[in-house]
Order: sequence, then C-alpha cells, then structure tokens
Amino acid sequence: MDPVLVLRSIARELRDDVRAVKQRDPAAHDLSSIAIVLSYAGVHALLAHRVAHALHSTGIGFLPRALAYASRALTGIEIHPAARIGRGPLIDHGAGVVIGETAEIGDDVTLYQGVTLGGTGFAEGKRHPTVEDQVVVGSGAKLLGPIRVGRASKIGANSVVIHDVPANSTVVGNPGHPVRVDGRRPEGPDADWVHLPDPVAEAIAVLARRVAELESRLEQATGEKLPPGAEVRPLRRERGADPASG
Ligand SMILES: CC(C)(COP(=O)(O)OP(=O)(O)OC[C@H]1O[C@@H](n2cnc3c(N)ncnc32)[C@H](O)[C@@H]1OP(=O)(O)O)[C@@H](O)C(=O)NCCC(=O)NCCS
Repeated sequence: MDPVLVLRSIARELRDDVRAVKQRDPAAHDLSSIAIVLSYAGVHALLAHRVAHALHSTGIGFLPRALAYASRALTGIEIHPAARIGRGPLIDHGAGVVIGETAEIGDDVTLYQGVTLGGTGFAEGKRHPTVEDQVVVGSGAKLLGPIRVGRASKIGANSVVIHDVPANSTVVGNPGHPVRVDGRRPEGPDADWVHLPDPVAEAIAVLARRVAELESRLEQATGEKLPPGAEVRPLRRERGADPASG
C-alpha cells in the first residue's frame, strides 16, 4: 500500500464529506469548508474512520481499534474500522451513531444522530446491514441484522428495521413497515413482506379442521366419545401492525 496514494484518497474522501455537509445540512449554508472541517463531529468521525479503515486493511491489529475508540470518545460516533463506507456520507449531529463491523454503506447516505447499524445476535460473518446509495436514516433508527436497505429509501426517526427495505420506499415504526413505495401507499398482501403466507401451516390447519369434522361425525354415528386429539396451534403468531395497511 503506497502511503501517498492512501493520503490522496483520504483527502479526496474528506472533500466529499465536506461537500455532503454543504449539500444536505441546511444549517451549513453560511459555513466555509474550513469551518465545516473544524466543527462537524460527523466529519471528524469519518476522517478517523478513513484512516482506521486503511490501517485495518493492512492487517494491523490494535492501532485501528485504538483510533476508533479515540474517535468515539471525541465525537460520540462509533464506527468499526472494518465497516465499509462509500463516498459523500453525512453523519449529522452524530452522537450515539453506531456502525458495526460488517456494515456496508453506499454513496451519499445520510445518517442522523442515534442511528444503529447493528447485529442481532452472536452470529459470525455478515451480520450488519447493507445500506445502498442515497438512503436517509432518521434519528434514533435501528437497522438490525444483515438486511439490505434499497437505494434512495428513507427510514423514519426511531424506526426499528429488521427486514429488507425495497428501493425508493419510506419505512417507519417498530417493526419498521413501508408507508410509501415509489411514492405510493402500499396496498394488498403483495406489499406485506413481514407476514409472508405460510403454505405448510395453512395446509396443516385445513387438515386439522377436516380431521376434527370427521371425528365429530364418527362420534355422532357410533355414539362413542373419542379421546381428545392433539391441539393444533398456529406455527407462527402474527404480531404488530399490518405492514400493508399504510
Ligand atoms: C420517514 C420520513 C423520512 C418521512 O418523510 P416524508 O417522505 O416527508 O413522508 P411523510 O412525512 O409524508 O410521512 C409518511 C407517513 O409516515 C408517517 N411517519 C413519518 N415519519 C414517521 C416516524 N418517524 N415514525 C412513525 N411514522 C412516521 C407519517 O405520519 C405518514 O403517515 P400516513 O401515510 O399515515 O399519513 C420522516 O418523517 C423522518 O422520520 N425523517 C427523519 C428526520 C430526522 O431524523 N431528522 C433529525 C434532524 S436532527
């Protein structure tokens, strides 16, 4: 790894970070580039991450972690050195943002304060979200697990998202559900990817009803009381609001 090339690339990424602030934070309209570099915690955290990520890719063990730790102490933003972040991200306000080890963030993504791109358990391998280009994640939103958030989607403040999000949609609530897809309210069961139909459970339920009916007829015909059969419960309990309800 040529250190000059690495420094050049980090300088280019810093320019992109400053451009992102100018374009996407209305409060930065009267600030110079220098003022942004000096006063934006998100820019500091991203700069530290670029260096930590470059060091991490050389295989150095502790130094990138120490840098990430120092950056978190200064900015309140925790980014694992292995996380992949594209060009022109904006971490606005910043405090409380956590970006996990296997998270991947595309270009021109905006994250507000308190956003978590986290894992859901102790699984190894890819366990954090992938966020495609131009996504906006509102303050306090939690994106959990190896889910994919499609390009140009918006995640509402304080949402908890545990399923993939299609491109160009708006997802809100806990559990996160789509309220807009391509600018329209989602309608009908096709838009409901949380409560997917379960054909096996449906088939078992139909068979159980049929057996109960036959047993009742048999009891009537013979006058003999049959022992109670096993109780058939639904395999999956549906919880939360209907995501298709808009
Ligand atoms: C999700 C968001 C991007 C949607 O913005 P939008 O595209 O203008 O969409 P709307 O405001 O028309 O909202 C669409 C629907 O979602 C609901 N909604 C919006 N944000 C919501 C949220 N955070 N939680 C729950 N429901 C929400 C609205 O009530 C509306 O419901 P309806 O369809 O029943 O009328 C926006 O509300 C949001 O949360 N942005 C985050 C901003 C933020 O974190 N700012 C921090 C600055 S410091």
